[in-house]
Amino acid sequence: MKKKGLKIALPLSMAALLLLLAVSAKGGSIVRSRHDLSSLNWRGYQSETGPMQGGTFSDYREACVYCHTPHNSSSAAPLWNRELPKEREYRMYSSPNFDSKTAKAPDGISLACLSCHDGTVAVDSVLKPPKFHAIVDAGVKHRMTLEGEPGTDSCSKCHNRSEGAYGGVSGAHDATIRYFTKDLRDDHAFSMVYPSLDIDPQFNQPTILKADGGRMFANGVQTFEGDKVQCASCHDIHNPDEKNLEGRDPFLRTSNRGSALCLTCHQK
Ligand code: HEC
Ligand code: HEC
Ligand code: HEC
Ligand code: HEC
Ligand code: HEC
Repeated sequence: MKKKGLKIALPLSMAALLLLLAVSAKGGSIVRSRHDLSSLNWRGYQSETGPMQGGTFSDYREACVYCHTPHNSSSAAPLWNRELPKEREYRMYSSPNFDSKTAKAPDGISLACLSCHDGTVAVDSVLKPPKFHAIVDAGVKHRMTLEGEPGTDSCSKCHNRSEGAYGGVSGAHDATIRYFTKDLRDDHAFSMVYPSLDIDPQFNQPTILKADGGRMFANGVQTFEGDKVQCASCHDIHNPDEKNLEGRDPFLRTSNRGSALCLTCHQK
């Protein structure tokens, strides 16, 4: 089925197409994965058409455009094409054991992730819609939030077993766990500086230097600008290949079997 995804990828601009080659060369492809918001009808209903288009959801028919645009992008992540959530109001994980100062608020690439995963910004709310298709902008944006009022157009209308317009009868999986809201106290700390050897010898030190000032382990686990741990330290947003035991693809940089991911950074 993955081959069919190429049809979606073709009408990209040259710049984005080159990017595509860069990503697909690594193996797993985001196209038709759960991070391909242009394939929701296909994933949900095995059809190119369905409820996820038209006046209810903007199906831009391109995988990359929900996050990237070749021009006039924002600086949160490479060629970023999304509105970012407001940085205030988050409640962050904190602990007395921390070497590094706890981040007051998410920053960098993590904000890019939260632009969908905290449920405050509509998933189809891009800075620049693609110009290759006539997109009917009905002015109605889906909100990927579970706090959506029952009956309103939101992902949670179907993806929440107990509440929402359809309750448990939509046939859709419960996605509650994937929407973080702004309370991040139950999530692994991020947006803090990675402890250096002299600060805490209990941490392995990544040795590959990156252009943005971050560092990387051989298995791809990495820090970003300012040597900070971000969502994308552990997650590879483009790559659904790494399956967990439930058969889901948590987009991880490396398998966490035997806690391999955790032990990349932590010595325990
Ligand atoms: C759901 C959001 C999302 C989608 C969809 C997406 N990306 Fe990305 N992309 C990101 C984020 C976040 C980063 C920065 C984090 C990182 O480097 O892993 C990034 C980084 C990149 C980079 C630079 C870093 C690298 O990994 O080489 C390239 C190139 C890229 N994306 C290309 C693409 C292409 C091509 C597509 C469509 C086939 C695509 N992306 C779809 C979110 C997305
Ligand atoms: C990219 C590196 C990295 C990876 C991978 C990683 N961690 Fe961490 N972890 C950190 C950093 C940095 C801290 C903050 C340490 C500090 O400042 O003292 C931390 C803190 C923690 C803490 C301490 C929280 C506290 O209250 O003191 C726990 C527990 C933890 N991580 C568990 C895990 C688990 C479980 C995994 C695997 C799912 C994991 N970590 C993967 C970097 C990482
Ligand atoms: C354009 C919106 C969007 C952006 C931006 C985005 N995601 Fe997602 N993400 C989704 C959707 C939609 C799903 C699928 C949810 C489902 O299957 O219920 C998903 C699924 C995931 C999953 C899989 C959860 C599971 O079921 O195990 C992970 C992990 C994830 N995203 C991490 C990230 C990270 C890290 C970033 C930033 C680097 C990011 N996402 C950015 C929309 C987005
Ligand atoms: C009209 C009901 C409905 C709405 C609204 C809806 N979905 Fe779905 N979705 C489904 C059904 C039914 C499935 C197929 C069963 C399943 O996988 O849960 C599905 C499947 C999915 C999948 C594929 C999961 C997989 O593992 O293959 C993703 C991702 C997804 N939906 C994301 C979203 C997002 C993001 C939104 C909001 C923008 C949304 N859905 C809104 C009904 C809906
Ligand atoms: C220290 C590593 C690490 C960091 C940092 C991290 N994650 Fe994860 N994340 C994981 C692991 C491991 C899983 C569980 C994967 C599985 O299902 O086996 C996970 C699961 C998820 C899920 C699925 C829901 C769940 O709770 O299982 C989502 C969505 C997600 N992460 C998004 C994010 C976002 C957004 C950020 C930044 C705000 C982030 N992650 C930061 C390691 C990390």
